[in-house]
Amino acid sequence: MERTLIIIKPDGVRRKLVDKIVQRYERAGLKVITLKKMKATPQLLKKHYSAHVGKEFYKALEKFMSSEVVAFVLEGNNAVKQARAITGATDPSKAERGTVRGDFGIDSAEKADKEKRAIENLVHASGTKEEAEKEIGLWFPGLKK
Ligand code: CDP
Ligand code: MG
Repeated sequence: MERTLIIIKPDGVRRKLVDKIVQRYERAGLKVITLKKMKATPQLLKKHYSAHVGKEFYKALEKFMSSEVVAFVLEGNNAVKQARAITGATDPSKAERGTVRGDFGIDSAEKADKEKRAIENLVHASGTKEEAEKEIGLWFPGLKK
């Protein structure tokens, strides 16, 4: 069994897509271990997105991610890879049909770039097992392993 972290970003929360998005992962057999609605601090976001701090889009990303989000941990076989496949490509305008970003996404990287803001792509999903472990520790520090 493997675990991964999903965050429904502020655009998903605002558009009331939380239940629909959670179901996408559950219907693939992944189990929600814990879930909470919260606002992330700048410090948490800097740790979470440590690989992106300093990049040209980071400030916009931090601003975008500072509104209410829904974070949850999924458990299942190959949870990290499965969840990434269900999530889809970073740019919603290029994400495959059948993925969360492809089906519910209305933004594009090009538009976001022009407007100097973060790409609004509904969800974060951990990229690797190592990232998942780090991220679960950050967002759910009290969770039993
Ligand atoms: O989320 P994912 O792993 O697919 O993409 P990433 O390359 O790790 O980037 C993290 C997040 O930063 C993305 O999901 C976007 O919300 C945002 N981003 C952005 O706003 N502009 C970019 N040029 C690249 C990423
Ligand atoms: Mg990433």
